[in-house]
Amino acid sequence: MSKRRDIFLFTILIVLLLCLFGFLGKSKPEAEEVPKPGVVASPKIFAHRGAINQFNENTITAYKIASEENVDAIEIDLRMTKDNVLIAMHDETIDRTTNGTGRVSELTLRDIKSCVTLGLYNGEITMEEIPTLGEVFQAFGGSQKFYIETRLVYGETAMEEVLVRMLSDYNLLDKEKVAIQSFSVESLEKMADLAPDLRLTLLFREGEFELDKALEVDFPVIGMESTDVTAEAVNALHSQGKEVHVFFNDSETMEEQQEKMKQLNIDGYFTDNISYTKRLLGK
Ligand code: G3P
Ligand code: CA
Repeated sequence: MSKRRDIFLFTILIVLLLCLFGFLGKSKPEAEEVPKPGVVASPKIFAHRGAINQFNENTITAYKIASEENVDAIEIDLRMTKDNVLIAMHDETIDRTTNGTGRVSELTLRDIKSCVTLGLYNGEITMEEIPTLGEVFQAFGGSQKFYIETRLVYGETAMEEVLVRMLSDYNLLDKEKVAIQSFSVESLEKMADLAPDLRLTLLFREGEFELDKALEVDFPVIGMESTDVTAEAVNALHSQGKEVHVFFNDSETMEEQQEKMKQLNIDGYFTDNISYTKRLLGK
């Protein structure tokens, strides 16, 4: 009898020891990093290529609609034509957004003006010319802040001098009127040389965000795609006093992503739906 009792007690002891070590061995789940406050009093709203959900992207009408919604800035994507004219166009070619075809860098302004942007809104086809940057500045003057995205042209910093000359001509070399963003460090460094007062944002492509690089570079604002944003990255950038501006590549998930970004206290939203973001942020 006592033998059976001993075996029973020994078994209980083994089970208890296994539970104890099992429990201790379990590492505590990584404590979720707690989002710290943003570096701006109130997060900013940027109209991504204008009011892109209401009219053809990067057109004067899309910018005008955004301007009437009192956004903090309107984003302009810049490209340069073969004859060195700056125009508002996101893609390398005009194929996706117009009735024309070809690379902007291989087209003259005359070619660009011979086609129109095309869109479909509320069941209606919308058409408008591709604006030059000069036409945008003439349409708005200093009444609206612009967040201009520069790009390299054939790998060269070819647009910056033209851009700064235009900003100067239109009396827009003012950080209250224009901010600059780019995926290219080279372009931003050229802009820093030519227009040292303007605030510069280094953008990171989706899936290519590097926190070490974002912390190391000497730019006051970091732009990244929403799926790359973490509390750790935002807190680390905020601890350096850097702003975090976020863009949303997937329109399907944009709303839920913007809700997540709000929890992380980001500082700026490149939104495709101004009214949604204004409601989300209580503006
Ligand atoms: O500038 C923020 C955002 O516009 C960057 O992505 O491709 O929309 O220009 P993309
Ligand atoms: Ca852009």
